[in-house]
Amino acid sequence: MSLSSYRKEFPILSEKIHLGNCSQAPQSLPVLNAMDEYFHNWRTIGMDWDYWMTGVEKAKASFAKLIHADVDEIAVVSCVSDAVTSIASTFPWNGRKKVITTEAEFPSVGHVWNSFTKKGLVDVSFITSDDGLYSADQLDGIINKDTALVSIHHVGYYNSAKQDLAAFAKKAHEHGAKVFVDAYQSLGTCDINVKELDIDMLASGNLKYLLGIPGVAFLYVKKEIAEQLEPAMTGWFGRINPFHFDATHLDFAEGARRFNTGTPPVIAAFAARGGMDFLLEVGMDRIEQRIQELSSHTLIEAAKRGLEIASPLNPALKGASTAIRVNDAHKVENYLAEHQVIGSARADVIRLAPHFFTEEKEIDRALDLVAESLKQ
Ligand SMILES: Cc1ncc(COP(=O)(O)O)c(C=O)c1O
Repeated sequence: MSLSSYRKEFPILSEKIHLGNCSQAPQSLPVLNAMDEYFHNWRTIGMDWDYWMTGVEKAKASFAKLIHADVDEIAVVSCVSDAVTSIASTFPWNGRKKVITTEAEFPSVGHVWNSFTKKGLVDVSFITSDDGLYSADQLDGIINKDTALVSIHHVGYYNSAKQDLAAFAKKAHEHGAKVFVDAYQSLGTCDINVKELDIDMLASGNLKYLLGIPGVAFLYVKKEIAEQLEPAMTGWFGRINPFHFDATHLDFAEGARRFNTGTPPVIAAFAARGGMDFLLEVGMDRIEQRIQELSSHTLIEAAKRGLEIASPLNPALKGASTAIRVNDAHKVENYLAEHQVIGSARADVIRLAPHFFTEEKEIDRALDLVAESLKQ
């Protein structure tokens, strides 16, 4: 099937240009159908925990497939903030409590490291960059025998700068530290192989390029590492047998399952599976290639219109979204919305974030409107 033939799966595309995939992807029929499986079961069976649990396991399996991990290495949580809090709650690690991260993390990540630093359980330091691109060499002189973790995003939420994950993993490992990746702005746009990249931990939610809805996120923890960690942030689903109902003892499940907490976000997990399986059916290689084309197209066309690009100018160093510097980003977002175009404002930039179903002419129209709004 051609990529454009999938457009009919997204009803809103007949009415709007949707370039808000860095924030919330458009509703699709596969996601609606997956959610309807949950609603149908609830309506007709009434109460069916086994069905829920099987649905959540299937969602974990789809996430595992997307990142080339084993399903035992995936936990289900409600958001990336929860995933990072769970990891932080395992600190310190054999006396190591230093975390090195970047100023460009989404606050879901930075805020958690700061909070645990205040409690004395973590000691966070931030590296900086003028253009959003970070080099693993920036860790030299900072990373040492006290460093537990390097915490890095794959693609930045603000200007879409893309980091070299393999280089960060290598540097962390040379110093006996681990690496955690926030892949929220990249997963669904490119193939991520945690084994080849040697990533120890990774998290993402589903409402952006993974086509799902809010309420669920997945945490990958390499099996050997997971089993050395005991999260203080826990719950009955993190136990060996949640249905044993023993309130007086502490035990942790095998693998990453120990990072589960309470009753999982079941409906959101059904939606997540619908979105992830849809992407896997389309094919991540094709999606990645198409997004690269659209990303290059956006850069070229934005420059032609004299717009100031805040993203890296080399498409290989950026994610799907392109950030255009504007004075009043919310005004531009509203102007686009008045013309049936969805863009996403952050601070002083408007982000145009295509997905595999986007057409070049949609990007051109959005860029014309951005240029027009700046003249108003
Ligand atoms: C890179 C990145 N990480 C995390 C988040 C959000 O995390 P949470 O699931 O905690 O809301 C976002 C955006 O909403 C993001 O862009």
